[in-house]
Amino acid sequence: MRMDGPTSDEFAEPLETIDLYDPTRYETGAQHRAWHRLRRDAPVWPQETPDGHRFWSVTRYRDVAAVLMDDKSFSSAHGTILAVAAGDSAGGRTINLMDQPRHADVRLPTMRLMSTHAARQRAPQVREHVRRLVGERFDAGGVIDIAELMLHLPMAAVGETIGLPPDVWTALPRWAMAGVAPEDPHFAEGSAADTLKKAHHRLIAVFSELIKERRARPTDDVISVLLGLDFGGRPMDQREILLNCYSFVMGSVTTTAQVASHLVQALAERPAAWAALRESPDLVPTAVEESLRWASPTNHLLRRVLRPVEVAGTRIEPGELVAAWVGSANRDETVFPRPYEFDPARSANPHLAFGVGAHRCIGGPPAQVVLGLLLEELLARVESLEVAGPVTHLRSNFINGITALPVAVAPVRTRRPVVIS
Ligand code: HEM
Repeated sequence: MRMDGPTSDEFAEPLETIDLYDPTRYETGAQHRAWHRLRRDAPVWPQETPDGHRFWSVTRYRDVAAVLMDDKSFSSAHGTILAVAAGDSAGGRTINLMDQPRHADVRLPTMRLMSTHAARQRAPQVREHVRRLVGERFDAGGVIDIAELMLHLPMAAVGETIGLPPDVWTALPRWAMAGVAPEDPHFAEGSAADTLKKAHHRLIAVFSELIKERRARPTDDVISVLLGLDFGGRPMDQREILLNCYSFVMGSVTTTAQVASHLVQALAERPAAWAALRESPDLVPTAVEESLRWASPTNHLLRRVLRPVEVAGTRIEPGELVAAWVGSANRDETVFPRPYEFDPARSANPHLAFGVGAHRCIGGPPAQVVLGLLLEELLARVESLEVAGPVTHLRSNFINGITALPVAVAPVRTRRPVVIS
């Protein structure tokens, strides 16, 4: 996808024709042009979804951060993606779709399983999973579909933490992607509605079985913690547990894999960035943060206004919807110098890829660890890499995804020692 900035003549596109809902816009990278225009000329911009729900788009970094930070004025309970602007049926029942105080009932007990400390402790096991996934493929070289391979990276990071046994790691990522982008031909099985139904059915069948097992033999994973937590004075019911399992799986699979693919693509297209990393492997942590900013896998986060608010000078009334475009915030030129440049050494990098505020991603630490390990394996095993065929992008206004990324990989002749983090 084109990730560079617009040229001056591209500002000729009238504001009125900008449609941030249209999923096909995101297959070509045209959203960057629109976001740039909106940040410059219309920081709060109204539009309707195809079924007539009005939403306000907020595109500047400071406004996106302000909306996400203010969970007293902006609710998550109605739904947090434009695809369900009419209202999410899981609203109020799953971690990402709850407001305080119930939200804390789920967030606090589960986030300890994914703290920075916990993620670092698990790093040796995760490294083994990453090696099993990419080791032989990188060592053999040749053309690899990185998008397909990276679909499996999230399970290496958090499969065990969530409570998913390795025998579901192969199939589950495709179901999760079908669930988040049923309109995309790469994951479609029939119509979008059929695809969604099949994906939900398969995921729920797996979760139901695992919940049954954990009820009998609880361990220290997300599913067991969900079963034991105090949800406003009572345990969660079966449906609430299923919905939360769904949130954790979707939260991990649909994002982490995409950052990994964008990172590999960025390096395959930028020999200077690849050379800089090979020269200085200590840049791995800053390169990981840059890949998060660069990829921004969740394009937007939706909120519903609870009380009258003013955003960038525009008054917005209770009940209205606001889409905070995280992907745009992460290209805001007032915060990030040279925002359309992928800089593995970028040091001040306050990106919003994990969101911010009460709902900030709780899977951030394991995602950072697995991306760092992937990069270390790449640097240890690969001499050079080059995009070797057409790259295709996900048809989704929510996830900034890559569906095919053929990369020609030349393995190193003598393996470099891997830095143990
Ligand atoms: C690079 C990887 C990831 C990115 C970019 C990412 C992004 C995000 C973002 C933007 C949010 C905020 C949603 C909101 O404000 O409405 C979020 C929340 C969440 N993420 Fe992640 N995520 C990543 C990895 C993971 C992983 C590995 C997990 C593991 C299970 C996970 C689980 C969650 C959960 C459960 C929430 C909801 C938290 C809450 O509402 O309190 N994410 N993520």
